[in-house]
Amino acid sequence: MSALFSPLTLRTTSFPNRLWVAPMCQYSAVDGVVGEWHRVHLGSFATGGFGLVMSEATAVSPEGRISIACPGIYRDDQEEAWRGVVEFLHSQGTLAGMQLAHAGRKGSTMQPWADHPFASAQEGGWEAVAPSAIPFEGYPTPRALTIDDLADVRQDFVAAATRALRAGFDVLEIHAAHGYLLHEFMSPLSNQREDEYGGSLENRARLLFEIASDLRALSPTPLFVRVSATDWTEGGLTVDDTAWVAEQLMERGVDLVDVSSGGNVAGAAIPIGPGYQVPLAEALRSRGVTVSAVGLITTADQAEEIVAAGRADAVMVARAALRNPRFALEAAEALGEVIAWPVQFDRARTVRA
Ligand SMILES: Cc1cc2nc3c(=O)[nH]c(=O)nc-3n(C[C@H](O)[C@H](O)[C@H](O)COP(=O)(O)O)c2cc1C
Repeated sequence: MSALFSPLTLRTTSFPNRLWVAPMCQYSAVDGVVGEWHRVHLGSFATGGFGLVMSEATAVSPEGRISIACPGIYRDDQEEAWRGVVEFLHSQGTLAGMQLAHAGRKGSTMQPWADHPFASAQEGGWEAVAPSAIPFEGYPTPRALTIDDLADVRQDFVAAATRALRAGFDVLEIHAAHGYLLHEFMSPLSNQREDEYGGSLENRARLLFEIASDLRALSPTPLFVRVSATDWTEGGLTVDDTAWVAEQLMERGVDLVDVSSGGNVAGAAIPIGPGYQVPLAEALRSRGVTVSAVGLITTADQAEEIVAAGRADAVMVARAALRNPRFALEAAEALGEVIAWPVQFDRARTVRA
């Protein structure tokens, strides 16, 4: 029996399998509202057999967006648009996860394919914010958030999570990775505050801990946190630091830590290769943390081995799913598992020659 295709229960939620789609920005929202593109894009993974499909980074406030074309969940019309996406995923027996995000100092960009990187005020850009007025390399200097601003950020996460739950999402994930706001707080390279949100690791992780506790109190819905386990840079966040943060998150009721890395230092020396972040997930799991692994996991056998060997509790794939939205249906076949295909696809399943 395949470990990858065995169900996983977190709280009262049962995931039909452990092969999940990772969050992927599409830079295709209009005024923060998702549309046809998102329904087709995310819907294709639901017809492709994945147990959980994560939304892309979805902003908790207008200035929490990465680009001017990133989606949000801070207004009624945005919530309503997401509901349509979730309903389709549910119609295929797929769970829907929302990644709640604040871009921090990496906000106010254009789409990656635009002819210039940053959005002007006329284009809908804004002044990016951060723990300290330290820019990400090549970006404008952000404004340091005040203590009062932090209370607002916390409130924005609660309001956005409330909307996500109302829209029907089965999983909430706090984005605390990739050099966005909550990672910026945690990393000593981007946080040089002198108040209770800076200095010690406990202080730097305070905002994340507060938000995690706030969201935990809202509902028994599984709560994930995506972390960058290491900055891959001298003087930055280390795996030991992140393992402690992850343990603390589990104590605060977080159900799973989604283990990524990097993103807070331009040009960091990341040893990219097949499954390169799996050892980071494994390190956290060895400390009793429930984890998912992500990063250059591209074949069924590779994903199966990660779960079967107890290196992670689940696997997320991003680019392999973009290349082949039916990755999970094919992986199940390759591993000798019978899973339901959409009935509309039956002739493709049964007639091969
Ligand atoms: C097009 C694209 C958009 C992405 N957007 C997000 C995002 O919104 N949030 C996030 O946490 N990671 C994002 N990522 C990172 C992926 O979730 C994933 O961690 C990374 O691509 C490594 O997995 P892979 O090798 O399977 O692609 C994105 C990756 C891609 C390729």
